Amino acid sequence: MKKESSPLWLEYKPLNTAFAGRAAIRCPSRVDRQGAAVTELITALKIMLPAAELTFGADSASLIFEADIADFLDPEEYMISADERGASVIGGSESGLLYGIFAYLREIRLAGSFVRMNRRVRPALELRMLDHWDNADGSVERGYSGESFFFEDGKLVVNERTEMYARLLASCGINSAVINNVNVRGEAVRLICEENIPQLARLSALLHRWGIALYLSIDFSAPVSVGGMRTADPLDPAVGYWWSNKARELWKAAPDLGGFLVKADSEGQPGPYAYGRDHADGANMLARAVKPYGGRIIWRAFVYNCTQDWRDTRTDRACAGFRTFAPLDGHFDANVILQVKNGPMDFQVREPVHPLFGAMKHTALAAEFQLAQEYTGQQLHVCCLLPMLREILLWNTCTDIQPGRVIDRICAAAAVSNTGDSFCWTGSELAGANLYGFGRLTFEPQLTAEDIIDEWITLTFGRDEKVREVLSEILLSSHKAYEDYTAPLGLGWLCKPATHYGPDPWGYEFDRWGTYNRADRDGVGIDRAKTGFTAMYNEPLRELYSDPEKCPDELLLFFCRVRYDHLLHSGKTVIQHIYDSHFEGCERAEEFARLWDSLEGRLPAEVFDNGRRRFKEQVRCAREWRDVINAFFHRLSGFSDEQGRKLY
Ligand code: GCU
Repeated sequence: MKKESSPLWLEYKPLNTAFAGRAAIRCPSRVDRQGAAVTELITALKIMLPAAELTFGADSASLIFEADIADFLDPEEYMISADERGASVIGGSESGLLYGIFAYLREIRLAGSFVRMNRRVRPALELRMLDHWDNADGSVERGYSGESFFFEDGKLVVNERTEMYARLLASCGINSAVINNVNVRGEAVRLICEENIPQLARLSALLHRWGIALYLSIDFSAPVSVGGMRTADPLDPAVGYWWSNKARELWKAAPDLGGFLVKADSEGQPGPYAYGRDHADGANMLARAVKPYGGRIIWRAFVYNCTQDWRDTRTDRACAGFRTFAPLDGHFDANVILQVKNGPMDFQVREPVHPLFGAMKHTALAAEFQLAQEYTGQQLHVCCLLPMLREILLWNTCTDIQPGRVIDRICAAAAVSNTGDSFCWTGSELAGANLYGFGRLTFEPQLTAEDIIDEWITLTFGRDEKVREVLSEILLSSHKAYEDYTAPLGLGWLCKPATHYGPDPWGYEFDRWGTYNRADRDGVGIDRAKTGFTAMYNEPLRELYSDPEKCPDELLLFFCRVRYDHLLHSGKTVIQHIYDSHFEGCERAEEFARLWDSLEGRLPAEVFDNGRRRFKEQVRCAREWRDVINAFFHRLSGFSDEQGRKLY
C-alpha cells in the first residue's frame, strides 16, 4: 500500500510580497527546460508568487530569473547573484545549476522575500552519500521509521515517493544513494539479476535527473549465489570475467549507475578471505569490472573478529580495522573508495575518530556515519548528531600531509539513512534535522550546526520565533544529554545486546562481539596503550590518548583504565562524574519534554502529538538508564554519591 509522505523542508509557501506582474525565466538552449533545475524553479515560483504571470524569456518582465550553465565552474559548483528584481543562477552542469536553484530558493524562503546575494559555492566532498539498509522484503535493518520505500515483497518500487525522495536529497546536496542493506540477503542477492534490471534502470534515471547516482550493495559471492559458478575467488580470471559481463549488462541499461558498495568478510558476509586473498584483491577485481563505465567500488573497512572470547584481554576490536587496512595503503585501484566508520567500534554516542583517517595516505577514503540512531535512542530519543559530525569532519588527524583534517583526507561521506515509509520519513520529525544536516554539512562544512539547525527549523516549521528558540535549544543540547544519561567518558556498549536500546551494562560483557567495559570493584575502562590501539594515532595524539593524566575526559574510559577516584580535568572523580552526568542528563530529558509541551498549538497537531509520545518514552528510558548505570557502578565501586542521591 502506498503511503502518503511529507514534503518536509520543501513545502513552498507564498512569499511576503503581493507581486502580480510578469515574472520571466530565461535560460539558453544548453539548459534543459525539462530538467530538474528549471522544473523546481517553476514549481517553487508558482507557489511563492501565486499572482504572478510566469513566462519564458519575456523582455517586459519585472522579475527575471536567469538559469545558465558555464564551463568555468566545476560540474557541481554554482554561482548566484540576486537582488529584488530577480536572480542569475549559474551552474557548472545541470547538477550545479540544480544546487544553485535550491540554494537561491532556500535563501528567499528563509528571508520571506527576494534577497540581495552574491555567492559562489563548490561542494567540499565529491560524494555525499546516503546508505540505506533496506532489505528486499521491505524491512529495514536498524530502521526506526517504518518499512522500506524502495522495496515491497522482493520488488523494487519506483513511484511519486521516490521522486519526492530525490528532490529532498538534491535540495540538501546529497548526490549518491545506496538503496539496499550492506548485509545482502534473501531476494536482494538477485538485485543485479536480469529480472530486476529494467526497474533498476528506471530508478537510476529518475535519481540521475536530480543529480543522484544510484549505488547497489552487492554480494561478494554473487558469481556463486546467482551466477552458478563454483568459486568467487577474486584472482580467478573466470570470476573477473563474470563481473565484467555483469557490469556491462547493468551499465548498458543504467548508464548513470554509480557503482557497488561491499561489506566483505564482516559479520558473516562473504569476502576474499575464503579464497586466501586480501581486501585489495577483492576490491580491485570489482573495480576493474566497473572501470570502463566510470563506476566505483565503495569497500567497507568494518572488518573485525565477531567471535571473540571475552576472556581474551589482548585482542582489541578497536585495532581490527587498522590492522587489516593500513598495510594495504597504496594497493587499491583509483576507483576504489575505502569507507571507514567514524570511530573504531560501531557508532557509539562517543568514540575517538578512527585512526585510519590519519594513516591512509594513498587510498581514497569515505567517512561513514550513522543517521539511523541505532545506539543513540532509535529516533524515540531526540539526538541531533550534527555537532558531532562537524567535530569529526574538522578533527585534525595530525598526519604529516597538510591540511590534515578528516574533511581534507576524504573524498566522500556516507551516512546510514534514518528514513522509512513513515509520513515524516524519519519516524520522529526532529530526526529530519539529521538527514537535512548531513547533506548541508558535507556540502559546506564551514556551516555551523547552529546555522544548519536554524535554517532547517524555519524551512520545516516556518518563522515562529518561539518554535525556533525551543527546537534549537533541544536539538543543540540533545547529543550531550543522551551521552550524559547513557555512556560516561567514552565507555560504550552499556546497552541491551541485539536491540541496542535501553541499559544493560553486563549485556555485552561476556559476549563474542569484542565489546567490553571491564568494570570491576577497583576501576573501569580499557588500557588501549597496552592493546596497541593508541599507537595507531599520529603524535601528539598517541601520547595524549595513552596517558590518563592527559587524555580528554570524554574519551578517558575508551583509552585508559583508571580507578573510580581518578581525578578528571573537570576536577571531579570518575565515579562522581558518572553519578552527576546521569542525574543531569536525565533532568535534561525531562526538560526537553517540558519545552516540547510549551509548543502546543504552535505545531501541527500530529507533529506535536508524535513528539509528545516520543519525549514521554525518552524520559522513561532516560530514568531507566540513570538508575541502572548508577546502581551498577555504585554496587561495583562501593562509592556513595557526594550529594546523597538515591543510587539503588
Ligand atoms: C552494526 C549493526 C549491524 C550492521 C553493522 C554494519 O553492527 O548493528 O546491524 O550490519 O553495524 O555496519 O555492517
